[in-house]
Amino acid sequence: MSLLIIGGTGTLGRQIVLQALTKGYQVRCLVRNFRKASFLKEWGVELVYGDLSRPETIPPCLKGITAIIDASTSRPEELDSLQKVDWEGKLYLIEAAKAAKIQKFIFFSAQNVEQFQNIPLMKLKYEIELKLKKSGIPYTIFRLTGFYQGLIEQYAIPILENFPIWVTNENIYISYMDTQDIAKFCLRSMQISQTTNQTFFLSGSRGWVSSEIINLCEQLAGQKAKVQRIPLILLQLASRFFGFFEWGQNISDRLAFAEILSTENNFSKSTFDLYKMFKIDPSEIIQLDDYFLEYFIRLLKRLRDINFEDVQKQKNLII
Ligand SMILES: NC(=O)c1ccc[n+]([C@@H]2O[C@H](COP(=O)([O-])OP(=O)(O)OC[C@H]3O[C@@H](n4cnc5c(N)ncnc54)[C@H](OP(=O)(O)O)[C@@H]3O)[C@@H](O)[C@H]2O)c1
Repeated sequence: MSLLIIGGTGTLGRQIVLQALTKGYQVRCLVRNFRKASFLKEWGVELVYGDLSRPETIPPCLKGITAIIDASTSRPEELDSLQKVDWEGKLYLIEAAKAAKIQKFIFFSAQNVEQFQNIPLMKLKYEIELKLKKSGIPYTIFRLTGFYQGLIEQYAIPILENFPIWVTNENIYISYMDTQDIAKFCLRSMQISQTTNQTFFLSGSRGWVSSEIINLCEQLAGQKAKVQRIPLILLQLASRFFGFFEWGQNISDRLAFAEILSTENNFSKSTFDLYKMFKIDPSEIIQLDDYFLEYFIRLLKRLRDINFEDVQKQKNLII
């Protein structure tokens, strides 16, 4: 089976590529910048030029492909790309996939998208879900939660750099996941026929509130966090006001996510049945505390190495 992975340079996409290669799939990645994607080539991927905002580049990428895994999304820093990538590009991709008689199309959406039609990305995700379902292409949709990887920027780095952490609501439980585990579910769905034409809500094995994540990072970093509490409504106003600035966009992204996740009252309920269907033992899932521990160990080792190099340089200067 030959796979076309879109978004292979992204946080989730690269984990899917890695695991697909390990499982022996022939992997092609649609990329818009060969230099940026050179690491994928080194891993053994075939790179093809394609850009979702340039529909004419899509059909040639599908030649000889059996299945598409679409892990792409517009980069927030690229203004106007939301409509072009997450709507027009995806619509065209579905049309092209239909014409190419693709046998499986995997799409990543987000939790509770249908309830957040006021948030542009969520609205587009929901519409694309509907288009894919109607297309007749065998599909699997994964509605995702937040990624562990995003928590580094949200909590670990601000604590280490002594920057404030903005917290909206103490009681929101979110079952974040590591992208490696999401990739595992994604590739399992290629082998399990019952997953075809289904939508799955993927979430981790336990929910975390922000105070727990902050405590964990404080312990691992050996440093206290500067926590700033802000009511959701104020954050909403701030995000509208600062919408054009980069950090403002960051706030609005986080707000969007906090809103989406906060309304799901059973978000952290056991996902036992799901894991059973995908034949994944919940104990295989990477836990958030282990993920952070590994991150801090790697970081401290790097800092020690940098210190060591500095000392060596100074010694050499003295000699
Ligand atoms: N991050 C989360 O917490 C979260 C939560 C729920 C759902 N999701 C969904 O999960 C999926 C993966 O998210 P992610 O965070 O891993 O994404 P990401 O790291 O932001 O990566 C986005 C990917 O899309 C590619 N891309 C952007 N514009 C493109 C274009 N015009 N043509 C072709 N490729 C383009 C990027 O390529 P370049 O490297 O060239 O920019 C990159 O590979 C997305 O569908 C996202 O909506 C994410």
